Amino acid sequence: MQIIQYPHPTLRHVSKPLQRFDAPLRRIVDEMFELMYAAKGVGLAANQVDLPLRFFLVNLEADPAASDQQRVFINPVISRPKGQKVGEEGCLSLPGLYGDVSRNERITIHAYDLSGNEIREEVDGMLARVIQHETDHLDGVLFIDRLAPSAVPAAREAIDDFEAIHAGRSQRGELPSDEELAKRRAEWESKYC
Ligand code: NI
Repeated sequence: MQIIQYPHPTLRHVSKPLQRFDAPLRRIVDEMFELMYAAKGVGLAANQVDLPLRFFLVNLEADPAASDQQRVFINPVISRPKGQKVGEEGCLSLPGLYGDVSRNERITIHAYDLSGNEIREEVDGMLARVIQHETDHLDGVLFIDRLAPSAVPAAREAIDDFEAIHAGRSQRGELPSDEELAKRRAEWESKYC
């Protein structure tokens, strides 16, 4: 398992809700937390490890020692958005790139945790921002799609570089074909969605 980078096609996949969460998926969650900590991230969506499954992880401390801060949000739905706030974001699928994004200041998140317990919380601050960023991932949306107009020119070169690197790897046959990736996603979906 590894974190995929823009413009890998699975980052544009819209994940369908999960119907079940079994022991193999729990192990995948553990592995995803390890990858997230190794990359010093605060959030990671399943499609960032090439899995078309509707869940994401958060640990605002970005620290495995703070395992009490680990959260898993399954089938998240955001509602009751309030206010707008601009803040800088980055993404483990676009390493090194940062830019200002406007998000709702306060939201209500409805989801399920790993034990199947319902989560319904009104959140704000950093957690509200991360939840919006990660839920976007599950809908195939990246923070570069939401950059403030003033942040676009500075990001353009980095985005072009990511695209050129991907095109080069593709041409050299170092990446699975789009058809193979779609087939793999369909297999996961038939099992879990
Ligand atoms: Ni991200």
